[in-house]
Amino acid sequence: MEFFTLSNGIRIPAVGSGTNTFAKVTTENGMVYDGHTDEVVSAIRAGYRFFDTAESYGNEEAVGAGILESGIGRENIFISTKMKTKSWGQETSSVKPEDAEAAIARSLAKLKTDYIDLYLLHMPWGNNEETAEVWKVLESYCDRGVLRAIGISNFTEEDLSYLLDHCRIRPMVNQFKIAPDRPNADLVAYCQKNGILPMAWGPLKFESDRSAIEAIAARHGKNWAQVVLRRNFQKGIISIPKSHSFEHQKENLDIFDFELSGEELAAI
Ligand SMILES: NC(=O)c1ccc[n+]([C@@H]2O[C@H](COP(=O)([O-])OP(=O)(O)OC[C@H]3O[C@@H](n4cnc5c(N)ncnc54)[C@H](OP(=O)(O)O)[C@@H]3O)[C@@H](O)[C@H]2O)c1
Repeated sequence: MEFFTLSNGIRIPAVGSGTNTFAKVTTENGMVYDGHTDEVVSAIRAGYRFFDTAESYGNEEAVGAGILESGIGRENIFISTKMKTKSWGQETSSVKPEDAEAAIARSLAKLKTDYIDLYLLHMPWGNNEETAEVWKVLESYCDRGVLRAIGISNFTEEDLSYLLDHCRIRPMVNQFKIAPDRPNADLVAYCQKNGILPMAWGPLKFESDRSAIEAIAARHGKNWAQVVLRRNFQKGIISIPKSHSFEHQKENLDIFDFELSGEELAAI
């Protein structure tokens, strides 16, 4: 496994496992949480040491339980989780500092841990002043080591610039959609310029034609997913692909033994 280093010196695996549909079964009413730990245990067996979860996924308990069940040792695992700040589609919301304190306590209890490696605000909620106040709570938990690193998710340059002007500790990560059909190159560059590591959610979900990526993959004896994840790694972007298949989980980690050329990177 390769690592990136966050602005506070903490090392983070360059590829982690997404989890949003883990510990759930498909029913006629959609996916329902049942708490099973199979995917987390399988991912650890495949070599993952980093899991990305969120309060809103409703599966932090199963992620924590799977880590314990694997016997790997909490100290060998990097966990990111996120505070629910707003629902998808909701225009604005109101979030107070005490909401953050309560959310952190809930996540610690569900994950059965006394620290979280990376804690993110899941979505900007359209109120910069409130965001800056809530951020102070994250900073104080970071000072105490309860949160080893802090960041945001789905923040645009506009959301970020206010926070950067009003924070004491800069966000260390911004997690947002990065995929071949949505490279979000300007936001990636803005984050990197400001010492914020970009983290790609949904890196393997895209609608655009895959033939150019597949041609590159064939040249390297890899598959399209590995080329997409390798591209992110070479561009300094963390990826958190999610898979329910042990084979895919393994493939998605097997990206550190080949190099894409500048020309290939430009073509993806
Ligand atoms: N911050 C946010 O707002 C936000 C939003 C969305 C997601 N996320 C996070 O990002 C993670 C990843 O995003 P995602 O789950 O939406 O999308 P993704 O990881 O890009 O794609 C998942 C899909 O790709 C398939 N897949 C995985 N590896 C593959 C491989 N090697 N070959 C072929 N197909 C493969 C999976 O199917 P199989 O199971 O069959 O392999 C699954 O259908 C989530 O789990 C979550 O942790 C964050």
